[in-house]
Amino acid sequence: MSRHGERLDKLRHALRQEELGLLLVSEAANVTYLTGFSGDSSWLLVAQDQAWLVTDGRYVEQAAAEAPLCEVVRHTKSLAVSAAELANASGGKTLGFEPNALTVATHGDLVKELQGVEAVAKKSLVEKLRQVKDEDEIARIRAAVAVADAAFGALRQRLAPGMSEAQVANDLEYELRRLGARKPSFDAIIAARQRSSLPHARATDAVIGAGDPVLVDWGAERDLYCSDCTRVVFLGAPNAAWREIYEIVREAQEKALAAIRPGVPCREVDAAARIHMAQAGYGDAFKHGLGHGVGLRVHEGPTLSARSEDTLAEGMVVTVEPGIYVAGWGGVRIEDLAVVRRDGPEVLSSLPKTLETAIL
Ligand code: GLY
Ligand code: MN
Ligand code: MN
Repeated sequence: MSRHGERLDKLRHALRQEELGLLLVSEAANVTYLTGFSGDSSWLLVAQDQAWLVTDGRYVEQAAAEAPLCEVVRHTKSLAVSAAELANASGGKTLGFEPNALTVATHGDLVKELQGVEAVAKKSLVEKLRQVKDEDEIARIRAAVAVADAAFGALRQRLAPGMSEAQVANDLEYELRRLGARKPSFDAIIAARQRSSLPHARATDAVIGAGDPVLVDWGAERDLYCSDCTRVVFLGAPNAAWREIYEIVREAQEKALAAIRPGVPCREVDAAARIHMAQAGYGDAFKHGLGHGVGLRVHEGPTLSARSEDTLAEGMVVTVEPGIYVAGWGGVRIEDLAVVRRDGPEVLSSLPKTLETAIL
């Protein structure tokens, strides 16, 4: 059976357990995951014995080629009207929909057209399946990581005082595409000196000076799959305070990576890093969760945080990204992608992260 056939099978099993006759999949990454269709503006309606891919004239040919397991339906009025008409004619009595991927207005349009079919919000049915990657997906993420690593290597050769953060971001984006990325998996975060205390800083026109630390958080999208990585580089020898913080973050990442195993609650992995930072006196300075899943989206499940209810399973691909952020001074984050393997983590990036290798 094809990859997409297996995924549809698993989803249909979940629908039987949920006693849902139909599921309307409107989240684009979920549609891609289940069908192979790589366009957007299209919905998938799944029944036990049929799957309809509802799209418009721009995508009919592409949908037929990429999604052979689906009947492609070209809508005339709107996705909502066509999906409702198909649901009405299917004989199904309950239609699950994805509340995170349907506007209130579109939900209204859908429900208005349904006849004898009850619409029920169903969160995360497909997202749960997506959390565990198969080897083909892992190979694609590995390839995205390799492009991102190579782009960073090229950037390092050029990174010099006098460049602005925005120039660095542009250079990195150029290298990503030149080396095989379809696009960056998100806008690169380039944050020099004290701006590095902003975990999600935008690259600005601020000019990088001699001796400055620069936080670089970037990723590639290749073959539909994403990567996500962070390194800090120093354009000159860092002082004692920066050295200390860099080492604490690096050790915290090591502790968290060592905790990764199938069956471990995600919050325990987060705690492994958080406790280390707290013992070093920086408990309050770690201002976000430890990590997240990566796949078709750069942010997806599972969540690695103090509040997470998720548990690691073999085949998940997660970031491990502890950070220390001191307002007005600066911050350090080190981020890598790891595959959860039976015997522990397989770290995908091959970029070094010792303090010595961070100094240009
Ligand atoms: N690139 C954003 C993050 O690391 O989650
Ligand atoms: Mn990142
Ligand atoms: Mn991340």
